Amino acid sequence: MAGRLYGIGLGPGDPELMSLKAVRLLRGVDVVAYPTARAGTGVSLGIIAAHLLETQELFPLVYPVTAGPGADASDYRDRINAFYDETSAAIAEFLEAGRDVAIPCVGDPFFYGSFMYWYGRLSGRFETVVVPGISSIVAGAIAAGQPLCFRTQTVTVIPGTLSEGEIMQRLNCADAAVIIKLGRTFAKVRSALERSDMLGRAIYVERASMETQKVLPAAEVETGTSPYFSMVVIPGGEID
Ligand SMILES: C[S@@+](CC[C@H](N)C(=O)[O-])C[C@H]1O[C@@H](n2cnc3c(N)ncnc32)[C@H](O)[C@@H]1O
Repeated sequence: MAGRLYGIGLGPGDPELMSLKAVRLLRGVDVVAYPTARAGTGVSLGIIAAHLLETQELFPLVYPVTAGPGADASDYRDRINAFYDETSAAIAEFLEAGRDVAIPCVGDPFFYGSFMYWYGRLSGRFETVVVPGISSIVAGAIAAGQPLCFRTQTVTVIPGTLSEGEIMQRLNCADAAVIIKLGRTFAKVRSALERSDMLGRAIYVERASMETQKVLPAAEVETGTSPYFSMVVIPGGEID
């Protein structure tokens, strides 16, 4: 009988924010296939390390590229698609051999999670269970120390990888907003916030819920210093 595939939402980084179900299922699998930039390291491995058993096989899914699409977006897409194809084939081999495989995912697996690309390739062939996780956007608002949205307000989630014009367009019709995928997109995001007159309300959150969490007004962030695990939170503010 084929093994089962698990997509395990880990929450935003604090290991105590993993669900009981995530921990139970993670400890029950034969193989933990963890996404990383370098084998043996990575945020997801750090979150789950304390729960792993010596008998479990660790299988690193090493990204061929770590920055998002640059000038040559089609080359990036080809490389990343080849990576998901190749790693899916490797995971399928474990599953075909009857071994259960868990893929841990920071935050929630179905919310911009890389697990979605393995899910798309494997869930039609193998029984798959997905465990939700606390998304970074809610942990980011908690870290920012201000409620995200009240009553009839809408929340807009904006990838920082959009163009400056598109970010402004989304900001201009948002009550509350969260801008994710920062890192090297920060200068553009800051400019969009400034031009939309929202920089004053914007709170920068780095590594929400992790030991190294940092929170400061977005206006005070030095360009070039924000890591991948950072976001900007724009709370809606209380309304009547
Ligand atoms: C590909 S998305 C993954 C989102 C994730 N699946 C979730 O539910 O939170 C990656 C982006 O999420 C944001 N992110 C994830 N974890 C974070 C954290 N602990 N603190 C701040 N931002 C985080 C960053 O903006 C990062 O660039």
